[in-house]
Amino acid sequence: MEVKTSLLDNMIGVGDMVLLEPLSEDSFLENLKKRFDHNEIYTYIGSVVISLNPYRSLPIYTPDKVEEYRNRNFYELSPHIYALADEAYRSLRDQDKDQCILITGESGAGKTEASKLVMSYVAAVCGKGQEVNKVKEQLLQSNPVLEAFGNAKTVRNDNSSRFGKYMDIEFDFKGDPLGGVISNYLLEKSRVVKQPRGERNFHIFYQLLSGASDDMLKKLKLERDFSKYNYLSLDSATVSGLDDAANFRTVRNAMQIVGFMEDEMQSVLELVAAVLKLGNLDFKPESRCNGMDESRVKDKNDLKEMCELLGIEQSVLERAFSYRTVEAKMEKVSTTLNVAQAYYARDALAKNLYSRLFSWLVTRINESIRAQAKTRHKVMGVLDIYGFEIFEETDNSFEQFIINYCNEKLQQIFIELTLREEQEEYVREGIEWTNIEYFNNAVICDLIENNQNGILAMLDEECLRPGTVTDETFLDKLNTICAEHQHFESRLNKNSKFLNDHSLPHNCFRIQHYAGKVLYRVEGFVDKNNDLLYRDLSQAMYKANHSLIKQLFPEGNPAKVNLKRPPTAGFQFRASVGTLMGNLQTKNPNYIRCIKPNDKKAAHIFTDSLVRHQVRYLGLMENVRVRRAGYAFRQAYEPCLERYKMLCKNTWPHWKGPARQGVEVLMTDLQVPAEEFAYGRSKIFIRNPRTLFFLEEKRKQCLEDLATLIQKIYRGWKCRSHFLLLKKSEIVVAAWYRRYAQQKKYQKIKHSTTVVQSYTRGWQARKLLRELKYQKKCEEAVTTIAAFWHGTQARRELRRLKEEARRKHAVAVIWAYWQGLKVRREYRKFFRANAGRKIYNFTIQRIMQKYFLGLKSNLPSMSPIDKSWPARPYSFLEGVHAELRRIFHLWRCKKYRSQFTEEKKAVYEEKLEASELFKDKKALYPSSVSQTFKGDYLEMVKNPKYQKLSSAVDEKILLADVVNKINRANGKSSPRLFLLTKKSVILADQKTGQVKTSLPLPDLSSVSTSTQSDGFFALKLKEGSSSAVKGDFLLSSDHLIEIVTKLHRISSLAADREKLNVDISDEFLVQFKQDKVCVKFIQGSPKNGNGVSCKRKNNRLLEVSVPTSP
Ligand SMILES: Nc1ncnc2c1ncn2[C@@H]1O[C@H](COP(=O)(O)OP(=O)(O)OP(=O)(O)O)[C@@H](O)[C@H]1O
Ligand SMILES: [Mg+2]
Repeated sequence: MEVKTSLLDNMIGVGDMVLLEPLSEDSFLENLKKRFDHNEIYTYIGSVVISLNPYRSLPIYTPDKVEEYRNRNFYELSPHIYALADEAYRSLRDQDKDQCILITGESGAGKTEASKLVMSYVAAVCGKGQEVNKVKEQLLQSNPVLEAFGNAKTVRNDNSSRFGKYMDIEFDFKGDPLGGVISNYLLEKSRVVKQPRGERNFHIFYQLLSGASDDMLKKLKLERDFSKYNYLSLDSATVSGLDDAANFRTVRNAMQIVGFMEDEMQSVLELVAAVLKLGNLDFKPESRCNGMDESRVKDKNDLKEMCELLGIEQSVLERAFSYRTVEAKMEKVSTTLNVAQAYYARDALAKNLYSRLFSWLVTRINESIRAQAKTRHKVMGVLDIYGFEIFEETDNSFEQFIINYCNEKLQQIFIELTLREEQEEYVREGIEWTNIEYFNNAVICDLIENNQNGILAMLDEECLRPGTVTDETFLDKLNTICAEHQHFESRLNKNSKFLNDHSLPHNCFRIQHYAGKVLYRVEGFVDKNNDLLYRDLSQAMYKANHSLIKQLFPEGNPAKVNLKRPPTAGFQFRASVGTLMGNLQTKNPNYIRCIKPNDKKAAHIFTDSLVRHQVRYLGLMENVRVRRAGYAFRQAYEPCLERYKMLCKNTWPHWKGPARQGVEVLMTDLQVPAEEFAYGRSKIFIRNPRTLFFLEEKRKQCLEDLATLIQKIYRGWKCRSHFLLLKKSEIVVAAWYRRYAQQKKYQKIKHSTTVVQSYTRGWQARKLLRELKYQKKCEEAVTTIAAFWHGTQARRELRRLKEEARRKHAVAVIWAYWQGLKVRREYRKFFRANAGRKIYNFTIQRIMQKYFLGLKSNLPSMSPIDKSWPARPYSFLEGVHAELRRIFHLWRCKKYRSQFTEEKKAVYEEKLEASELFKDKKALYPSSVSQTFKGDYLEMVKNPKYQKLSSAVDEKILLADVVNKINRANGKSSPRLFLLTKKSVILADQKTGQVKTSLPLPDLSSVSTSTQSDGFFALKLKEGSSSAVKGDFLLSSDHLIEIVTKLHRISSLAADREKLNVDISDEFLVQFKQDKVCVKFIQGSPKNGNGVSCKRKNNRLLEVSVPTSP
């Protein structure tokens, strides 16, 4: 169901000022403030939208909002600019009525933003399609282009439009946009050459310098630094929140979309650059012979660059800044320009250049966006024109005068159209017309624009008049002609009223505009109206080799010299305003009145005085009054009945008849006085807001009652539904429960049955089992008995059979014996009595033969160390077998020995002796077994080193070796040559071969060695012998076994001597000079290393540490 809403729903303050009660300026402002504080920036006065600038982005322009307001009645939703745009668009599309949207308000009030919002809304709701979208895009993108060239930062607005703009958007019969036409009004060109403090030049200059690439700047002969250009004010060159560089890219992009060619864009930028260059031109005076000063361009570099940019011959332009040619009829007079005039000419050229460029841009955009189709168009005009302007005191000049004139005209058209519309509606609805009192500002318009004695006409007259014309002469003229006018005030007026009015300076005049009094200073009026550009300059421009410049200065064409003065600015403006008004009058007007809430450009601030001032001069109170002069409120019957039908029993809840009758019944029932309302054809008209609020109040109460009723019914219904639901649920739950319980019961029974069943079955089974077991037992018993029986029978049979077999065997044996006996008895006579012995011997012989032959073929090898011997074949041969083995071994040893030479024999004898001496006594012995006793290890005979030594020894040397002699004092060892002969032991120096000691063998009493693996041996000397003086010798040798064996052998072979004793013990005494020292051998610990170490511990002990043998 569609939800019927109304502007009156959830209203903050009053959404429509017409309904304000009581109506006063204070309540008006209070209402605006209240709404503003709640972010409601839009308020209606009937169909007029008041828009307060929020100075911040509000979330009220989203696509959702567009959808919300689309195709809705104007008063259906809370006030919004979209509602107005929708209303205008729908009446254009559906009722074929051309529309115009007039946006007014002072600078910074939000006009341009409002116009863009309207355009974007229309673009969003109108048709779609490739072509249509392109048109829309072009129309929307024309805004950034015009804003860049026509907007500037002012103290009031960072993006202030410095021109008036009227745009006609053209639609086809379906409401799709076809194109548009833009008209521009009076660009504030003075800004090009001079900007008030705190303001900037037009945006494009800063955008170009900030956003252009280095390349482009180079091409345009520009530098990025703003301070290089006289025409750019520096104190506010950068504006916070305004990104000039980014905007430059946006503008270029927009130009492209609108359809500018690349070379056109370049030309435009060249012109912008030229204006900047122009500002940098300086002039100096140069005296002429006639005593007059003539101006000359000071630094020609900028001039040169500018001429290069525009393709102008430098000398031509230079001359135009020094001379001025005046043509009158057939005469041509050339006069020089002084410096001041040159500066004036420069600025005039810059202003003209820029303003003509701007007009060209508008024309060029129009070319792009012009509707192509030639069919009849529906038109929606959007007017974004500068609002009424009142500057402080005497700052109002010609521009403000023109602007305010335009606003007067707009106000007039507003009043006219509003009233006309009001009247038309009354007529349409068949309501009796009551005359409405209002202030008509036609009289002020007349004061300004009257062709005979209007201010503009007089200004023109003054400008065209020969003779000296100044601003003062113009004021004089005004003082004479307008003296009687009740809206004109001047100090020197004939009207004595203002003679003593000190707020009115002598060089000013004041006009009582509809929006308030404005004081204008006449200075500059004549000049600005003339808008003079010396012909020499326009001709110089025309000569430029630059297509765009040529187009902009057509009057410079010498072929078309026009001696007539060009129309004045005032005249042109009046004409264009006239055309605009004519245009607007043919259209259905829609008003947006923009209001600036504060001077700080800040959000949330509502300056009462400022808004009050705007409310006054925008004539908003008047607006409300005019609107309320007749009937304050009107509404079609259907929505009216829909809204209030609950107030009467007859119409509630449904009214069957026509809506008008329903409303009539309703009004009668509510006893609304007849003068308070009137029935139109389709609408009811309510005269007083009070009545409406009475209805609203009633409705509110009724709604509350209804709400209670609905609540009551709803609650009852809810409770009942809940109850029914509970009931239903209860049945369901009960059913489920019962089912569950039954299921449980059934399961229990089933379980019990199963248990009983299982018991019964168990019992039956056990019974059966018992029976079966019994049966089985019986069967087993039978089987056992049978088995026993059979067994008994079988054994009995077996016994019988065995008995039978034994008997048979006995019979056979007896039979054999009997037979044997019989045979022996029979053959005894054939055998000799010793045949048995022979057989025995023969058998033994055969066995022995076989044994020896077997032994022969299995004899082991001849090696005496081979321990193998064949196994014994018969145990009775055990003794023989062992003996044979022993004999065989002795035999093979003998065989082995018989192969020995004498030396080898001696060696073996020595080895044998060594074995007898050391085997199992000294740990060193096993390792010596495999070593041959070489004897002469030093090769005494061969080695020439020992020749001397060997010649000194006259005996045969039995052993020569290097031994270590242990120092008796400290146990350290030193090498010695050890020689053994049959008679003595000789110790000689190893290096020199010098004999150190010669011990005759008979002096040796014994040799002592340890049981361990060391090579230590002590040669003990007999006490009293000649050698014993020195004491015993403790030596060590690698060939200890051989040395000791040889020593022992020599002593044992000598018949005249007693045998040398060999003591093997780990502790023995030696005689060192006087001391008896104990030599003690100990097992060395690993820390002593692997070598044998010998240490003299004290006088009595010499310790030899021997590594543990592995
Ligand atoms: N509806 C809005 N929502 C948010 N900000 C807004 C709105 N309307 C205006 N503004 C802000 O106020 C600034 C001034 O608005 P705008 O340029 O439209 O003023 P103007 O009436 O056109 O002034 P001028 O006469 O100087 O051109 C805008 O730049 C914007 O920041
Ligand atoms: Mg603007």
